[in-house]
Amino acid sequence: MKIKENWSLPNLKEAAKRTRSAVERVDHYYIPANTLDLGTGKTYYISTYGCQANQRDSETIAGILETIGFRPAQDLEHIDVIILNTCAIRQNAEEKVLGEIGRFKKLYRENKDLVIGVCGCMAQEDEFVKLILEKYPQVRLLFGTHNIQDLPVMLYDAMVKHEKVVKIYSKEGEVYENLPVKRFENHKAWVNIMYGCDKFCTYCIVPYTRGKQRSRMMDEILKEVQELKDAGYKEITLLGQNVNAYGKDLEEPIDFATLLEETAKIGIPRIRFMTSHPWDFTDEMVDIIARYDNIMPFIHLPVQSGDDEILKRMGRRYTRESYMKLYRKIMDTVPNAAVSTDIIVGFPNESDEAFEHTLELVKECQFDNAFTFIYSPRPGTPAAKMEDGIDEQTKHERLYRLNEEWNKYALEKNKAYIGKKVTVLVDGASKRNDHVYSGYTETNKLVNFTGENIKPGDFVDVMITDAKTFSLDGKAV
Ligand code: SAH
Ligand code: SF4
Ligand code: F3S
Repeated sequence: MKIKENWSLPNLKEAAKRTRSAVERVDHYYIPANTLDLGTGKTYYISTYGCQANQRDSETIAGILETIGFRPAQDLEHIDVIILNTCAIRQNAEEKVLGEIGRFKKLYRENKDLVIGVCGCMAQEDEFVKLILEKYPQVRLLFGTHNIQDLPVMLYDAMVKHEKVVKIYSKEGEVYENLPVKRFENHKAWVNIMYGCDKFCTYCIVPYTRGKQRSRMMDEILKEVQELKDAGYKEITLLGQNVNAYGKDLEEPIDFATLLEETAKIGIPRIRFMTSHPWDFTDEMVDIIARYDNIMPFIHLPVQSGDDEILKRMGRRYTRESYMKLYRKIMDTVPNAAVSTDIIVGFPNESDEAFEHTLELVKECQFDNAFTFIYSPRPGTPAAKMEDGIDEQTKHERLYRLNEEWNKYALEKNKAYIGKKVTVLVDGASKRNDHVYSGYTETNKLVNFTGENIKPGDFVDVMITDAKTFSLDGKAV
């Protein structure tokens, strides 16, 4: 195969630079005419890893592919394009992707026209791209988080010119409006409100893979929410790595509280948002959440650690005390609030005492849900260079103890629902039994319940009859 000369390879150091230059905003999306029927009669499959930002990007990728004629593949035997949208947050996320690329090797051997593309956060890492180029010849297309809009041209080069295409920019990034989108769900939708991250927590790769914080203009966001409401969507989730910092980067700064209030006024039945960094969470935001019935009383508030020294070395810029103050303010102000969190154990040289501080915090907050991780060094981040004398076994034991602890409270919180009536937004019927449905409460609890003649997107009142750690059981009333 001819190798294209103008490869753009990523550079993590370059990606960490931040300038004061204005964000470029691109409103019109243009698909070159010669690519418009590239996918006619052809099929695609997208495999998505990582967070909601990636889910939403995959919807854009699907939207672009379908605009140029591709249709979703029914099976992997007759397939023309496979896209793996990857996540770099932890080592194990990366290993899964390599495993999947390995499995596709056979398909490529049988069909040399197959285009296997890899994009997303891993594609922004120089070492990963080098590895793919050296060891995985079946990957014929590599593109980064800043290059999605160029997909038609990249695919044309791969499919028509038979080139190996590598297009990855390491830059601060733009804001694109009006890219095609194929929403994967019919009653719930993701709405990006900002891209990138400038927080540079010392363990985290995201600011390198996603560029600088760029907020969308509020009127663009509200227009999208209005369109979703008009199309019958019941729930939207406002997305950003730090939604609370929304608008701080705009020429005329605006805050998240204002955006949240304006979104609520549009009247879509359910509004969620994630992720909230405790640092930028203002009292005004808490008040707005409390004031509007259609802003769900559920807040994902990652704490990461309950120890001040670790928080400082993580670069989180809040203390255990200020987190607790915010937590109490939320619980005291928002009726029936549920709070979930993220916690990392085994941060470099986390002492036993520091870990105990985290357990104590969990005991105090009694979170409704928690996502817990063993620290995974990300090459190129400051924490990866920190000395770490803690052995793997200790880290695993801590994770186990932490999970035991939060599971206990989650179960208690769920048990308090027994005998109560909740409103569930229905996602669908169980695969095994079509009289069993599932959906989520306002507080983001998963409910499995029995009922008749129920459709996805319905709001159903459910009486809760039983509680588990991760879900509730009930009966439609
Ligand atoms: N922007 C969000 C977090 C996005 S990443 C925030 O600041 O809250 C999701 C979670 O992955 C983080 O909250 C953290 O708990 C975890 N995480 C990030 N980097 C990690 C690493 N290097 N090792 C282990 N967990 C990590
Ligand atoms: Fe990562 Fe911190 Fe940004 Fe969250 S706020 S994405 S943890 S750097
Ligand atoms: Fe993963 Fe990138 Fe999201 S690293 S968590 S997919 S921003």
